[in-house]
Amino acid sequence: MGDVKTILERLKKIDLLPTFPHIVHDVLRIIEDPMSSASDIAKHMDASMVGEVLHLASSAFYSRAGIRKISSIEQAIALIGYENLAHIILQMPFLILAKKEDKFLDVRGFLTHSTLCGYVSKNISYTTLLGNPNETYIAGIIHDVGMIIIYRYFHDEWKEILTLVHEKNMQRIEAEREVLTVDHGVIGAMLLDLWAIPPSISNAVRFHHCPTEAKENVENVAAVYIGNIFARQIDFKAIENNFINFMTSNKNIVEEIDRFRYPLSSNEEMELFKKVYDALNEIKKMFRGIEDD
Ligand SMILES: [Fe+2]
Ligand SMILES: [Fe+2]
Repeated sequence: MGDVKTILERLKKIDLLPTFPHIVHDVLRIIEDPMSSASDIAKHMDASMVGEVLHLASSAFYSRAGIRKISSIEQAIALIGYENLAHIILQMPFLILAKKEDKFLDVRGFLTHSTLCGYVSKNISYTTLLGNPNETYIAGIIHDVGMIIIYRYFHDEWKEILTLVHEKNMQRIEAEREVLTVDHGVIGAMLLDLWAIPPSISNAVRFHHCPTEAKENVENVAAVYIGNIFARQIDFKAIENNFINFMTSNKNIVEEIDRFRYPLSSNEEMELFKKVYDALNEIKKMFRGIEDD
């Protein structure tokens, strides 16, 4: 059993990615300022992080046809682009923490879901003016980091949570609160706060399952909350060329958005679905090979 104080003490002992907080600040700056250079990101990376980026850039997750050998960080950036680089970096905690894959964790599912949530949250912010798209993009990608923390550092509790979910039919969030007093949103945000990640991002992570509890950064919270719902219900494998089906089966998202701001006009609605649909097809290309890797 955990209480918030004990959880915090345990989180403080996590010696993970010491350069990650700097990198998040760099990523945010680079996304906001197209004039800054990707070498700004590279200069804060330690050797193991550079190694991970090169490895990932060469892997089936990101490689485009025919490009397999990537030997320098500059080459990786040139090939995969800033946005993909930012997104690879932001996924680093997942990848490092989830290295010991076992039957309790679907790493690939995590990566796909996190990527979707980042892109969808960003597009919700762009089209509905709910929150800051750069912040909701980052928050969307790392919103479930707490789940990986529970898996890796609170492994007994993780198993207890799964037992409650499978044997008592409890909702996952409820089971987390029962076992750990708080859910994975709060745990992730506690770690991000320790890492001095801006509250505009950590709050969106903290409240992504309970947006009405947020007192600050409520728009970012709303965008990531909706982005998460959207990302969970999208049938990623089935998105082919049927925009109308896509729009119809995700229509509930509009009601969610209307809860947090004035109702979307039909033009805004169409623009949002188009943007998300295009983003999904981009992600699909990015993850080419994910199904058969
Ligand atoms: Fe979540
Ligand atoms: Fe999620």
